[in-house]
Amino acid sequence: MKLAGKTALITGAARGIGLEFARAYIAQGARVALADINAQAVAQAAADLGPQALGIQIDVTQADSIEASFAQVIEKMGKLDILINNAALFSAAPIVEITRADYDRLFAVNVAGTLFCLQAAARHMIARGEGGKIINMASQAGRRGEGLVGVYCATKAAVISLTQSAGLDLIKHKINVNAIAPGVVDGAHWDGVDAFFAKYEGKAPGQKKREVGAAVPFGRMGVAQDLTGMAVFLASTDADYIVSQCFGVDGGNWMA
Ligand SMILES: NC(=O)c1ccc[n+]([C@@H]2O[C@H](COP(=O)([O-])OP(=O)(O)OC[C@H]3O[C@@H](n4cnc5c(N)ncnc54)[C@H](O)[C@@H]3O)[C@@H](O)[C@H]2O)c1
Repeated sequence: MKLAGKTALITGAARGIGLEFARAYIAQGARVALADINAQAVAQAAADLGPQALGIQIDVTQADSIEASFAQVIEKMGKLDILINNAALFSAAPIVEITRADYDRLFAVNVAGTLFCLQAAARHMIARGEGGKIINMASQAGRRGEGLVGVYCATKAAVISLTQSAGLDLIKHKINVNAIAPGVVDGAHWDGVDAFFAKYEGKAPGQKKREVGAAVPFGRMGVAQDLTGMAVFLASTDADYIVSQCFGVDGGNWMA
């Protein structure tokens, strides 16, 4: 088992990719704190995963919530070896219709949430002196802008940049910071994306999903399980010499 004896905190883990990461980490021997703004869903998800899972509520946009959640995890699990910054929001709109409120909402979760959870984890890891692994969820959307997805793309470009800076600053403490850039991954998130495109491109519900799936070189949309191998690898000692990188796991959509 690649993560035996390790403890991990995964934000946005009540559903989707974060929940699948929690399942994969537990299968590799880790104990996992699933943290999400949706308290009821994350409690249920943790209960379903069993005694190696701890469900906690966090709002990654709030400093006091981050502080309380990390303190709770360290108190209950004794230490934190791995953080996955996975919580995020999506939105779409033509450039001339973007609102400041939507910009603030997405940057608060996707960028500030990532930075300040990373900071909380790094402070603990530095004080403990045994290194750690931090994985940020970027996106192919952070590699290239998209006409209707300006704000979300900008947040994910910022996540890639923060990954580079944090990785360079923290490797002297044996803390590896890297990112995963998924392509298009089916699930509740993409149901929302599909609805945005139905609104702005006049597509029938489900049509955008079929189109993006058909366009993936691999031949289909991703599923959360397609990403777990990379998430386990980056959290393991196999990745000790990997610093500040962003790995596409996208069926061939993007060439780095
Ligand atoms: N699904 C895709 O196609 C895709 C593609 C590229 C990147 N990603 C990225 O992968 C990650 C996971 O995606 P997903 O599809 O599982 O998303 P999702 O929408 O299914 O899950 C996101 C979770 O984050 C939680 N969350 C939202 N705001 C929060 C806050 N303020 N504090 C704490 N938790 C909060 C939500 O409650 C939800 O459970 C995200 O970072 C996303 O941007 C997804």
